[in-house]
Amino acid sequence: MQQAIDNKQAPPNIARYPNAITRCILLIAHCPFPYLCLMKILMVCLGNICRSPLAEGILQKKAVEAGLDWVIESAGTNSFHTGQPPHHLSQKIARKNGVDISGQIARKFSADDFSKYDRIYAMAGDVMDDIRSIARKKFDEMKVDLFLNELYPGENRDVPDPWYGDEDGYIDVFEIIDRACDAVILNHRTEKQKA
Ligand code: 4NP
Repeated sequence: MQQAIDNKQAPPNIARYPNAITRCILLIAHCPFPYLCLMKILMVCLGNICRSPLAEGILQKKAVEAGLDWVIESAGTNSFHTGQPPHHLSQKIARKNGVDISGQIARKFSADDFSKYDRIYAMAGDVMDDIRSIARKKFDEMKVDLFLNELYPGENRDVPDPWYGDEDGYIDVFEIIDRACDAVILNHRTEKQKA
């Protein structure tokens, strides 16, 4: 699914496929209309109150501005804050930068998320370990990556956890996530959408 959305392979000759359902699937996968090219992305951190809500809100705003019909959501690998809104400092820094994350509600990551999303981004290595142990057999190497590998390919960097620090940490994290979201847009929109 992801490969097809990335549009890196040549579109197939639809006429060669007599089955109507196969034709529909191929048409959707090689969608010529940017607004029909849906991609579902899940941002994951530990608590789902500091980093991943920022990643969800920032990427959602950038995707809309880029005319991309992407669904972006977030989750945490623990349930300590399930049902809570994002941390007040994440909300404050986001608001200062024109991003409203106040309506988000924390939820716990589940193995079924591998069926629901095309891409899953872990904010850090410990989050990736948790994702692996929660997902077990459903863990799909092709769908999951460290978020900052979009910005620094292959470097396996972590988004620092601002939970234990002060407001400056949240400002730094906003900047890092903002740049990584730009990289996600650049790396994953289709050739037609880049035009
Ligand atoms: P987050 O930060 O993973 O970026 O949401 C944290 C929030 C809460 C906790 C740890 C990290 N906690 O241990 O409660």
